[in-house]
Amino acid sequence: MARVRIRLAKSSDSHALAELRYRFRTETEPAAETKPRFLRRCASWMKKRFRSGAYPWRCWVLDDGKQLLGHVCVQLFEKIPNPVNDEPELHAYITNFYVVPEMRSQGLGKSLLNKALSWCRARGTDAVILWATPGSRSLYRRCGLVEPTDIFELRYLSEKI
Ligand SMILES: CC(C)(COP(=O)(O)OP(=O)(O)OC[C@H]1O[C@@H](n2cnc3c(N)ncnc32)[C@H](O)[C@@H]1OP(=O)(O)O)[C@@H](O)C(=O)NCCC(=O)NCCS
Repeated sequence: MARVRIRLAKSSDSHALAELRYRFRTETEPAAETKPRFLRRCASWMKKRFRSGAYPWRCWVLDDGKQLLGHVCVQLFEKIPNPVNDEPELHAYITNFYVVPEMRSQGLGKSLLNKALSWCRARGTDAVILWATPGSRSLYRRCGLVEPTDIFELRYLSEKI
């Protein structure tokens, strides 16, 4: 099997990333949009967000040299400046975390997540947040994330990952 490496996504990955996003979301729910239309819309969105050095998004991919096998994305968001303590003024939101089914349970997801978490730590983020699917909770706990008691959420539509 080819060696799988983790690298930052580039604009030129946008079509492959859009394909994976489609695969990810339609694994558990039917599509409400035609695939070609979605791929065009999503690839164009990703091309702008995942340019190298772009802010506030970062995306890492699993690449075996021939194709992408997974990804994880982080969006930084600002906090209001704080005059007390030494409190960091950025939070991070982790999303679009996916490994293709045939490559799961080999530790690739954990490596991807740790890559994103290390980067958040190096950026000096305060909280890292994400919404977990039922199956992924054990992995998040293993990587040091905990379920807080002080977050409120108001959801107008059904869950979006
Ligand atoms: C979550 C996911 C990226 C993990 O990738 P992976 O390469 O299998 O991860 P690892 O091999 O490092 O770790 C295995 C862990 O993944 C999680 N996992 C396994 N299958 C899963 C599934 N179908 N859905 C969600 N999480 C799963 C479990 O926490 C598992 O740990 P456990 O065996 O102790 O229960 C991958 O399972 C996936 O893409 N799932 C579908 C999309 C998803 O649920 N993404 C998370 C959104 S919050």
